[in-house]
Amino acid sequence: MRILVTGGAGFLGSHLCERLLSEGHDVLCVDNFFTGRKRNIAHLMSNPYFEVMRHDVTFPLYVEVDQIYNLACPASPVHYQHDPVQTTKTSVHGAINMLGLAKRLGARIFQASTSEVYGDPEVHPQSEGYWGKVNPIGIRSCYDEGKRCAETLFFDYYRQHNLSIKVARIFNTYGPRMHPNDGRVVSNFVVQALRGENITIYGEGQQTRSFCYVDDLIEGFVRLMNAPEDLTGPVNLGNPNEFTIRELAERVIELTGSSSTLIFKPLPEDDPKQRQPDISLAKDRLKWSPTIELDEGLTKTISYFDELLKIADLD
Ligand SMILES: NC(=O)c1ccc[n+]([C@@H]2O[C@H](COP(=O)([O-])OP(=O)(O)OC[C@H]3O[C@@H](n4cnc5c(N)ncnc54)[C@H](O)[C@@H]3O)[C@@H](O)[C@H]2O)c1
Repeated sequence: MRILVTGGAGFLGSHLCERLLSEGHDVLCVDNFFTGRKRNIAHLMSNPYFEVMRHDVTFPLYVEVDQIYNLACPASPVHYQHDPVQTTKTSVHGAINMLGLAKRLGARIFQASTSEVYGDPEVHPQSEGYWGKVNPIGIRSCYDEGKRCAETLFFDYYRQHNLSIKVARIFNTYGPRMHPNDGRVVSNFVVQALRGENITIYGEGQQTRSFCYVDDLIEGFVRLMNAPEDLTGPVNLGNPNEFTIRELAERVIELTGSSSTLIFKPLPEDDPKQRQPDISLAKDRLKWSPTIELDEGLTKTISYFDELLKIADLD
């Protein structure tokens, strides 16, 4: 198949392109390189079935493909808050443009949605039936509400135009090719530990997160995309094993052998206290559940950042 991956030069997108190429597909990576990097896809450039197009999804795109994975959107608070209006446009106009393309082509389309649609949840763990508790006017709203609106558009195209849609709600994912300066907790801790700097914890570190290793997540993407027509989602994809932020910091210090110490700063606005996926639907319909333990995933991530810190200027 010819498959379009928007945001294909980003962290998750580059792993997805790699996976699709390894299955023999023809892959078109579309990216405006806001947070994506050429380094992430450099190893794919010599593959004759891989093509890159610099394009911003807030503008219409005219290409011919059989499937579309829509991942374009900055995912970390530092990046999506840098230009919040553009973030909402990327989610909303980007969804409209990619759905319009899918409609014209009769192509199946996958949306990379997020656990942020649950906001600061009142139920725990979160299942897909939970509607969420989201602040519509806060500093995270450009991302959370943009993604919620994109989901609305997907389901309206499904109902109104009979489009084949697949919506994944992704929970915290980590692994090689995360942006080193994106302020996300795993990359922050690993980079701080490798540099021997203090590890910054917001609040007391008792807020919990679940961390999914990237290879597990990409397996979930591909299974959902190729699942029977009636499974539109949303489907939670993430690792239900919960850790406190403090526990994560301690694991990173141990696995890097770092001399870093923990320092504590105030919690940012609207930071959710708890986040854990209920993945019963993915287990049942996709026969999917994560297989990579935190220590194994962290070890691979640490070795990626270790190399990167040696060869690259991280700014
Ligand atoms: N990584 C996670 O834990 C996580 C969790 C939930 C949801 N997601 C979603 O998965 C997708 C990929 O996330 P990621 O972690 O790989 O982030 P990322 O920032 O590494 O990748 C996003 C990619 O989209 C590109 N992009 C941004 N705006 C664009 C635009 N207007 N036009 C074209 N390209 C654009 C960026 O340059 C980048 O390559 C995002 O939609 C994100 O919301 C990720």
